[in-house]
Amino acid sequence: MPTYNVTVNNQKYEVEADQDTPLLWVLRDELNLSGTKFGCGIAQCGACTVHMNGNAIRSCSFPVSAIGDAKITTIEGLSEDGSHPVQQAWLEHDVAQCGYCQAGQIMSAAALLARNASPDDEAIEEAMSGNLCRCGTYSRIKTAIKTAAK
Ligand code: FES
Repeated sequence: MPTYNVTVNNQKYEVEADQDTPLLWVLRDELNLSGTKFGCGIAQCGACTVHMNGNAIRSCSFPVSAIGDAKITTIEGLSEDGSHPVQQAWLEHDVAQCGYCQAGQIMSAAALLARNASPDDEAIEEAMSGNLCRCGTYSRIKTAIKTAAK
């Protein structure tokens, strides 16, 4: 099996995996970073969202062989102590219900705010449209993103 050098949360790892292995399984099974969740496995729900060089990607559908030198950030690496403005806003507004999708929601929101410091409703809806929440926490998510943007 081939080996890949990947940088995750500013740490370098060497992982052995088939070239088509989704990044999600490398994170969860090889690196024990279980904050990133499996939802659909077909790039439709956003539960597995992580950052690649700051951009939100679906790790369930991103092969480990395509990472190259890119820097991957997971929910564990977004901040050292949960102090990222998006995480703080999530707590302030009690966004999570069951919580399962929320790591992906937070990663998408953080990527949005990194490229657009004060998004309007339309920009928020567009950026978050690929992140589904079966509990329907959408209005709290939007409020929290606006708080984090202040
Ligand atoms: Fe990756 Fe649903 S688990 S988008």
